[in-house]
Amino acid sequence: MTIGIHRLSFHTPAYYLDLDTLAQARGADPAKFHVGLGQDRMAIPPPDQDIVTLAANAALPILDELGPDHIDWCLFATESGVDQSKAAALFCHGLLGLPASCRCAEIKEACYGGTAALRLAAAIVAASPASRVLVLASDIARYDLASPGEPTQGAGAVAMLVAADPDLLVLEPSPGVHCEDIMDFWRPNYRTEALAEGHYSTRMYLTTLAEAYKAHQAATGHTLATFAHLACHMPFTRIAWKALARLARADGIPEPPPDAAEALLAPATLYNRLTGNTYAACLYEGLASLLDHAPAPLDGKTIGCFSYGSGCMAEFYAATVVPGYAAHLYTPLHRHLLADRVPLTYRQYEDIFQYGIPTDGADHIFAPYRGGPFRLATLSAHKRRYERRDP
Ligand code: CAA
Repeated sequence: MTIGIHRLSFHTPAYYLDLDTLAQARGADPAKFHVGLGQDRMAIPPPDQDIVTLAANAALPILDELGPDHIDWCLFATESGVDQSKAAALFCHGLLGLPASCRCAEIKEACYGGTAALRLAAAIVAASPASRVLVLASDIARYDLASPGEPTQGAGAVAMLVAADPDLLVLEPSPGVHCEDIMDFWRPNYRTEALAEGHYSTRMYLTTLAEAYKAHQAATGHTLATFAHLACHMPFTRIAWKALARLARADGIPEPPPDAAEALLAPATLYNRLTGNTYAACLYEGLASLLDHAPAPLDGKTIGCFSYGSGCMAEFYAATVVPGYAAHLYTPLHRHLLADRVPLTYRQYEDIFQYGIPTDGADHIFAPYRGGPFRLATLSAHKRRYERRDP
């Protein structure tokens, strides 16, 4: 029996800010964003979309295709939770019509949360092979206006169905893990914007990558030559090129030439360039991008995956693409979603950024914006009410 990702679906809001527009507003050279950070657009959720609706919208194609049977767990990874007590998974349980026997919980460790949930899901399936686990990873990345992190903001969600003998990706044994207690990026409960020691966080990302890779290598003997492609956590996509340089150094080989580096990395970065950072969803958005865009079939190929969560947790693991995987992708849906988005002006971006949802418990009706079927409809007595709009 193998265990891994059976279905993978991605969702992002219907609005974005082009980084040319942001560069103009900030008096920055657009090349810094497009080339230096490797980002082109940032996804902006309108007031009636949050991590719950993004995740439910991501999961809907999977539920529509396979139904809720045998989904015994729903694990929701996020660092932008909407409630300190109730798991976001429970809102999705209602919206998606999951079985009453399905356990629901929320998981947090910064951008590593998606991988933590995936590991737990794999362990659940190993113990109970008929079980299916719906892993949702959904985040809205917010930094202070005009801060260095601002151009890396983004929003999006992935839904992964984890199962025995999966159709898409098999998780290989012996992931390499590295954990340290540091303060490189964090968000105290009283803040809606994250704080970061930006350059330190980038250094720690790369240092802990090397440690996790070393642990993975010691257990498997894998080298860069093992991997057809790499998919990394991408707070900004240019970091994947820095990661490759660090892995080459660990292998004791020269950095791959630009063409080879591009071939190894670029297919996994296409969605993230267009959405910005999606924190817990980021690596898995990258995997969706890779499966949707690989220039040659990936059947039987091994992918090197790196997950990083500030604070910090790092994990490097290998996943093998299942022959026949291409028949089980949601590629047209993902492409439409990104192609149909609406650009915002700088003023509209700032208005949405400043829109604070009411905290006084009064009744509040959210105006309908463009987006997936699920939306946040009202707030009343501090309760969120979601709805599914008619097609
Ligand atoms: N043309 C082309 N390139 C340019 C340029 C121009 N005109 N101007 C600058 N650049 C390049 C710089 O040389 C630099 O590239 P290198 O690192 O390869 O030298 C790149 O653009 C960025 O420039 P700066 O380092 O000057 O940018 P900055 O200091 O304003 O901000 C950042 C960069 C620190 C990453 C900032 O965006 C930030 O704080 N981001 C939030 C934290 C973050 O993303 N950390 C990443 C690791 S932590 C993690 O992974 C978890 C997570 O998701 C948050």
